[in-house]
Amino acid sequence: MKNKLKGMRRRLTKYGDEEFALFLRKSFIKGLGYSDTTLDKPIVGIINTYSDYNSCHGNIEELVEFTKAGVLASGALPLAFPTISLHESFAYPSSMYLRNLMSMDTEEMMRSLPMDACVLVGGCDKTVPAQIMGALSADLPFIQLVSGPMSTGSFKGQRVGACTDCRSIWSQFRSGELEESDIVEASNALVSTVGTCGVMGTASTMALMTEALGLMVPGGACAPAVSAQRRRIAEETGVIAVKMALKEHNPRQWLTKSSFENALRVMLAVGGSTNAIVHLSAMAGRMGISLDLDMLEKFGRDTPVIVDLKPSGQGYMEDFDRAGGLIRVLTEIKSLLDLSAMTVTGETLGEVIKRTELTWPQTVVRKIDDPIFSSGGIAVLRGNLAPDGAIIKQSAASANLLVHQGRVVVFNGLEDLEKRIDTDDLDVKSDDILVLRNIGPKGAPGMPEAGLIPIPKKLARLGVKDMVRISDGRMSGTAAGTIILHVAPEAAIGGPLSLVETGDEIRLDVPARELILLVDEAELTRRKSKILPAKISPKRGYGKLFQDHVMQAPDGVDFDFLVYVENEIDK
Ligand code: FES
Repeated sequence: MKNKLKGMRRRLTKYGDEEFALFLRKSFIKGLGYSDTTLDKPIVGIINTYSDYNSCHGNIEELVEFTKAGVLASGALPLAFPTISLHESFAYPSSMYLRNLMSMDTEEMMRSLPMDACVLVGGCDKTVPAQIMGALSADLPFIQLVSGPMSTGSFKGQRVGACTDCRSIWSQFRSGELEESDIVEASNALVSTVGTCGVMGTASTMALMTEALGLMVPGGACAPAVSAQRRRIAEETGVIAVKMALKEHNPRQWLTKSSFENALRVMLAVGGSTNAIVHLSAMAGRMGISLDLDMLEKFGRDTPVIVDLKPSGQGYMEDFDRAGGLIRVLTEIKSLLDLSAMTVTGETLGEVIKRTELTWPQTVVRKIDDPIFSSGGIAVLRGNLAPDGAIIKQSAASANLLVHQGRVVVFNGLEDLEKRIDTDDLDVKSDDILVLRNIGPKGAPGMPEAGLIPIPKKLARLGVKDMVRISDGRMSGTAAGTIILHVAPEAAIGGPLSLVETGDEIRLDVPARELILLVDEAELTRRKSKILPAKISPKRGYGKLFQDHVMQAPDGVDFDFLVYVENEIDK
């Protein structure tokens, strides 16, 4: 058995003398005051991603302490250690650019340090997928703990909780409805506590999908960051981690394609973030499981959105928590799930649902026959503009734009966008379609969340709130609008988006799942022959690694050398 319980004996540093390596290891850690009795216990590693740059992880140090209490009470030794911490607003050029680095850090530290199980403590958007990707590749028992959502604040009497509200307040400022002083006031209110964004953004979606995957304490996704319940969840996580260590209950052994399909169903039912698709594909890829866009489209057709949270609906995560959290959703959609999927507790998902079913009245999670949005929140589009697919969060789009044909205004990249979008002489009308290219995985690089192209100021001032916007980038899960994302292949590697010119026409037909560039094939071939390859050539470091190995959106934007390779794990 490759993952036998070994505690301190696991992964001894290579000196050519194992007993000497153990002697040295114990001698050093005894410098912290540990005894031989304690050092003979099974070890639960706890990844601490606290950072002064990361308010989403502002409670993580206390969660680590509560997790340790659970581990100690269960007779094992908790040892916390740091890895990279990523916050959306503090990662240049984007947190996505660094997600794979964090997953490598997680994997290699889990492989390197002696531990029989690991608690992953994260929360902000990219941290949870990065940790799970790394942990799956490290092939050890692990369990995820999240920091939990922030509580809401109040701005001019209006309830706010980053970041759907961040974006709508900023749009109001751009259109002249709010003053500079209002923006300062808003920035004091938008993030009123530590914790992750309080709406159904990427962090909330990833937490819910992780619980649906069975990788978290049942009920562990929604409790607010500052609640006593969040601390109890941390303690219970420590308790379960010890059981997982003792039983070698390794998710890599029991996660199946059905587990990932369940998570996909949950993502659709909660009106989850488009980013979650990319992360779920990358996580599945670490198991050798393929989740393609056709599956998303198929599930999307019969999975309704039933959670009334921003940006698709109205509420906040604290409302969802009071309504009972994920278990409500699982109960409602159980006919769509594989209930035999395993969880960290050793129970199946069906057994968890059965023992935790909730019956009191609430309004946040709708009945499956009374949904917010009757078919899936996210639709997959195809056509000559996106041969490998593109997606739209139709539940957060304007209904009147879901079928739309318009003239295109092209921006060649983020610099071009910044230079021209707010100029008075920009030739743009409210029914035009905005195209932003070269913000894909390689193009930006790192596929930044710039797909929510701002409404040009001259139109915003006239009251235009939404337009069809198309890019090869991503957008924040907290954002709303008629936004087409993840166009693949991306422009920077010669995808059709690179051939679009201002003045062309594009037809969007979401019900027909079509995205068509209305330019004939001969003209596209002519344009193709004139396109110069994009200049993407870092010579060294992580930038070079990224450019040489990053894959496209449908493959999860993972590095090609990190995906599952049979018999390679644990070497
Ligand atoms: Fe961290 Fe939104 S910025 S969860």
